[in-house]
Amino acid sequence: MPEAPLTKAESGEVPNLDAFFRPTHDEYVRTRYIGALLNHAMVDLRYAVWDEYKAAAEPAFKKKHGRPAKTGKEIFHAIKTNTFFRTYSSFRYNAQEMGPQSLQAPVERVIPQLNAAAARVPAKDHVGGTLRLNPNIELPQYLTGMDAHLTPGGYWSEHAGEGDVSQALMLQGRRIAGPPVNPSRDFGGVGASVGKWISHKIPDFKPRRVLDIATQEGKQLFAYGRLFPGVELHGLDIAAPSLRYGHAAAAYKGVPIHFSQQNAEMIDYPDGHFDLIVSSFFLHEISLPATNRVIAECYRLLAPGGIMAHMELPPTKLVEPLLDFSLNWDGRYNNEPNYALYRAQDPTELSVAAGFARNATFEITVPDAGSFKPENYEKFLKGEMASPPHGRGGWFIFGGRKAFTKA
Ligand SMILES: C[S@@+](CC[C@H](N)C(=O)[O-])C[C@H]1O[C@@H](n2cnc3c(N)ncnc32)[C@H](O)[C@@H]1O
Repeated sequence: MPEAPLTKAESGEVPNLDAFFRPTHDEYVRTRYIGALLNHAMVDLRYAVWDEYKAAAEPAFKKKHGRPAKTGKEIFHAIKTNTFFRTYSSFRYNAQEMGPQSLQAPVERVIPQLNAAAARVPAKDHVGGTLRLNPNIELPQYLTGMDAHLTPGGYWSEHAGEGDVSQALMLQGRRIAGPPVNPSRDFGGVGASVGKWISHKIPDFKPRRVLDIATQEGKQLFAYGRLFPGVELHGLDIAAPSLRYGHAAAAYKGVPIHFSQQNAEMIDYPDGHFDLIVSSFFLHEISLPATNRVIAECYRLLAPGGIMAHMELPPTKLVEPLLDFSLNWDGRYNNEPNYALYRAQDPTELSVAAGFARNATFEITVPDAGSFKPENYEKFLKGEMASPPHGRGGWFIFGGRKAFTKA
């Protein structure tokens, strides 16, 4: 029997950019260890800080004010000079900073080969996916003013000139090094979780086109392609390195995705072009005026009956003061200057201000599709079982459905 012809990916014609990340044994172990350290700092030690607050700082606060703290901000000011909290912050800050540091050497070693391989993928790939870049795009100050998440170079830096994808490999290194240390915090599972919820909630919803805003390298889009067969997949981001990386990765996997470099505050698609618009881990990173512009763009770009769904941090209004205090740690110490102001907003009001009818908006935490037992999903949909909390097996989402006809 003649052998089946090699696919473009198998023949090596479409490069697997992940394969360029080849850490040594020690680099690999360091990356995995730091992932575990960070998870420990973010999840487990949070509760130790709460215990410390209750034992050491809260009594003094109550004595002074005659009441418990009402907000996360009050808790922060009550505990900010506490030695345990300062040690925790230093530990967590260092764990965060060591993440990219552990990836830098293996990435720097392969930059020329990596970029040469990425350059082999044509702007229109063999499965019909496309890459549209805008070398003249203006990067907003909220992006260039600091290195987001303490990652040198942020999302957008190009270290080796035109065509560079090394910053994208930096951002992918931990994923390539292995599965998430904590499976209920698999950041790559958001698209599957949001798409699953929408497809169960509205079984007859059949989007023709989906747009993932701030898609980075597009990892969430694959799930929408699986859940809504035949849907056209679009991902936009302002940063070229990850778009190039994502374009190559989608071509390698044989999935047609249309990537474009755009500022989400002013998108160049025509009105009503999409039936589903999603984003994840994005809005808290940009300024509040920018957030309002992005949501207004979502409304404009949706066709009648279309759905907008943003996965984001739960807002201040929905969480206890202690959790609010913990969530806003990043705003102070992790180069996330817009975090707290974003979380102080009411997501429904953001949607209504953009044009969505109030009774067509939603705010909900949906179970993580990868870690929630499938046999419990019906119970969740019927309201008989709650989703695990955001970031611990669930994802908070908000959005709205555009009316079919003008009111
Ligand atoms: C945390 S990452 C998003 C991750 C991705 N959505 C996911 O689920 O893995 C934030 C992304 O926002 C992009 N970004 C920041 N400001 C933007 C803007 N104004 N327009 C488009 N993308 C932007 C960054 O380049 C970065 O890729």
